[in-house]
Amino acid sequence: MENFTFMLDKGMENLSSKGAFLTVKNKADIVNTMTISWGFVGFMWTKPHFITVVRPQRYTKEVLDNSADSFTISIPFDGKFKEELAICGTKSGKDINKAEIVTFSAARTVESPIVKDCDLYYECKINFTQQLEGSLMPPFVQQFYEKDYHHVYFGEILECYGNH
Ligand SMILES: Cc1cc2nc3c(=O)[nH]c(=O)nc-3n(C[C@H](O)[C@H](O)[C@H](O)COP(=O)(O)O)c2cc1C
Repeated sequence: MENFTFMLDKGMENLSSKGAFLTVKNKADIVNTMTISWGFVGFMWTKPHFITVVRPQRYTKEVLDNSADSFTISIPFDGKFKEELAICGTKSGKDINKAEIVTFSAARTVESPIVKDCDLYYECKINFTQQLEGSLMPPFVQQFYEKDYHHVYFGEILECYGNH
């Protein structure tokens, strides 16, 4: 595994401006992916973590909360998978099978698969989740919500690598 800071600048640039795939598989073998662009790489409880934020109405949240213990982040660089990111960021896995939009392949360490042919990957074990508390939010933050406050998932980075 690379150090968790491997290609961090390019990864964050692409995550924030173009999006990435958050993919999860739970113990019932249900797999789903959705586009994210908000997320953090950092250091917590003595371990590297990827922190992802998921609104309650996402099907991905249902899959995560139904017995998943991992998720993966697959980041394409330089405009690759533009259409796939757009579809996975606007259509729900409740209505379409996202395995027909992207190709999943086995991750190295965790049960959740990765999206094939991306450029930077994080494989994460879920250590903790908590919903953001709306009543504590100042107006700048509150403007992003209609009571659908994100759930925050802290995923310990077990693997970080590029596509080679
Ligand atoms: C560029 C982009 C970034 C997004 N980032 C997030 C995010 O960080 N968190 C979130 O909950 N939804 C985010 N979304 C919305 C979800 O991807 C979208 O609602 C998706 O259809 C949910 O799929 P699901 O119902 O299969 O989980 C984003 C959408 C786009 C297009």
